[in-house]
Amino acid sequence: MNATILPSDEKHHPVLLNEILSIISPQNGGTFIDCTFGQGGYSKAILKFPKTKVYALDRDNNSKQFALNLKIKNKNRFFFQNLKFGDLDKLDLENKKIKALIFDLGFSYSQIKDYKRGLSFMSEGPLDMRMGLNEFSALEVINNLEQKDLELIFKFFGEEKDSKRVAKNIILERQKNLIDTQKLVKIINKSKKKNNKKTHNATKVFQALRIFVNKEISELIKGLIKSVKILEKNGLIIFVSFHSLEDKIIKTFFRSLSENKKTSRYLPDNEEKKNILSLIKKKPILPSNEEIKLNSPSRSAKLRYAIKINNDENFEAEIYRKFQFLLDIENLSEKL
Ligand SMILES: C[S@@+](CC[C@H](N)C(=O)[O-])C[C@H]1O[C@@H](n2cnc3c(N)ncnc32)[C@H](O)[C@@H]1O
Repeated sequence: MNATILPSDEKHHPVLLNEILSIISPQNGGTFIDCTFGQGGYSKAILKFPKTKVYALDRDNNSKQFALNLKIKNKNRFFFQNLKFGDLDKLDLENKKIKALIFDLGFSYSQIKDYKRGLSFMSEGPLDMRMGLNEFSALEVINNLEQKDLELIFKFFGEEKDSKRVAKNIILERQKNLIDTQKLVKIINKSKKKNNKKTHNATKVFQALRIFVNKEISELIKGLIKSVKILEKNGLIIFVSFHSLEDKIIKTFFRSLSENKKTSRYLPDNEEKKNILSLIKKKPILPSNEEIKLNSPSRSAKLRYAIKINNDENFEAEIYRKFQFLLDIENLSEKL
């Protein structure tokens, strides 16, 4: 699923599914939101339990075909919308009490297989990278942003050590040729001081571009904030992430809302801010060796979850402040 190396068999394996089912206990019924429907692995598994309802969304309109099959079988228990999870509040929930919101971040196997999207450095296709409901493509980014902006994107969204050299070589090449997926791979290979031993040289730059094109940082932050707002007490937020930048944002968000300290030591105890979330486990849940054997891309997955224990006060401004640096990089797209 969410990795640039494709699993050898094409059967769909929803990542950490058993762990998610044991957290949300669908056997007791309830209404759930599958925020990244994809091919519907989680929704399908939840709907097997008779007293459940699922609201699903995905930014990729191609998910609709998988959603239609589920709708036929579960007419009054399953609802799909082509929507970004950053717009969760636009979902028509008819005042439903939500038991859990589930996010399985990144892209799906069918998206990466689709060469027209140019998501994989293995594919020969245009540099596109749009997952759906986007404003611009990777080609526009590569062809229009200045060297210093590209460098920032590669450095902070991909942790690419040779970001400066890659950005410089892109500028040189784009004056001569249109840069497609394989041309970008060649530029990256040429720019690397040392070949990566464990991963393909192009992994980090491709990750950075995909995050930038799909505005994944603000999507994630809005998804986190809006989930807390939608939930009532005892509701759950569950995130499966695949790279350290996503995991850092989720961890920081969960900590900020679960470790509120007194704003001042001179305030009486009853003035102490209440925690909004509680973390059942501080450490992430990882896939078992069996799951990794069956579905190798699951090896980088991390699951974190939290339970809402108090109603939310105004916490958004503080959260946006914490991630302002990353959001400023994302906002470089305004130059396009
Ligand atoms: C890893 S796949 C999910 C797979 C799914 N759990 C399954 O079992 O099929 C991630 C999905 O999330 C979608 N996605 C990514 N970012 C999104 C966003 N901001 N809003 C809505 N969907 C998003 C992608 O289009 C993709 O279909």
